[in-house]
Amino acid sequence: MPILIDGKKTSDQIKSEIAARVAEIRAEGGKIPHLAAVLVGNDGASQTYVGAKVKACEQVGFESTLVRLEDEVSEEELLKVVEDINQNPAIDGLIVQLPLPKHISVEKVTNKIKPEKDVDGFTPANVGRMTLGWPAYVAATPYGIVELLKRYKIETSGKHCVVIGRSHIVGSPMSILMARNDYPGNCTVTLTHSRTKNLPEITKAADILIVAIGKPEFVTADMVKEGAVVVDVGIHRIDDSTKKSGFRLIGDVKFEEVAAKASAITPVPGGVGPMTIASLLYNTLLAAERKVF
Ligand code: GUN
Repeated sequence: MPILIDGKKTSDQIKSEIAARVAEIRAEGGKIPHLAAVLVGNDGASQTYVGAKVKACEQVGFESTLVRLEDEVSEEELLKVVEDINQNPAIDGLIVQLPLPKHISVEKVTNKIKPEKDVDGFTPANVGRMTLGWPAYVAATPYGIVELLKRYKIETSGKHCVVIGRSHIVGSPMSILMARNDYPGNCTVTLTHSRTKNLPEITKAADILIVAIGKPEFVTADMVKEGAVVVDVGIHRIDDSTKKSGFRLIGDVKFEEVAAKASAITPVPGGVGPMTIASLLYNTLLAAERKVF
């Protein structure tokens, strides 16, 4: 059996480390980290994600503010909300939950967020700093994966890391982080995507396979090398009448058959997912302690 890379357990551990630091800050009379989340509209998944982020803030002793805006809010009004939070010294970190309604430019809104408060790591300033290897807020998913690799002491130096998916928030930054010259990096990286030819040939050469393609059970055993480390970023709801909830969650990897070949693998749920919230909390702590800028 492969090593099961337990993101739930690891994120709980990180949350207790953060809670311990908050207790120290409190005892020193320092600034309690404060995260503001802006949620536009009534998208079900977004409400769930933002709710989980706010709850996690409470768990570790952070302060949090949730700003809810109507679907019809104008771009100008949203930009004003962001600017007010930028200027509010009580708030250390700011996230605007994506996706946004179609009439609002994600680029304009992202660019409005003060890089010093951009704990999602989405602004050009933070993406640029991360790319240069400067201190930066790294986006939650890639940062969560890096932390899992570290805490499970996965060897990366000289390994071939294949990333499937080139999104701005997962695949692209992941490929940069795995190639850079400190641990867990120093990999030879291949970034693949929907137009890649002979994908199975490439994935079969991977020592570390990071899958963020957004297609349920896309990666099958015949695409994976014996002994590979497999990280599954996907999460999909599948109807299942045998479950009380009426659904089950699956990833981008066909878990059972791939696990039989892998040396280590992240499950879905309980793998990368819980780590994203731990990363966001960590970035917010860094913001409050002015550790990045
Ligand atoms: N939508 C999906 N993932 C994210 C995330 O990490 N941050 C924000 N702001 N929106 C998201």
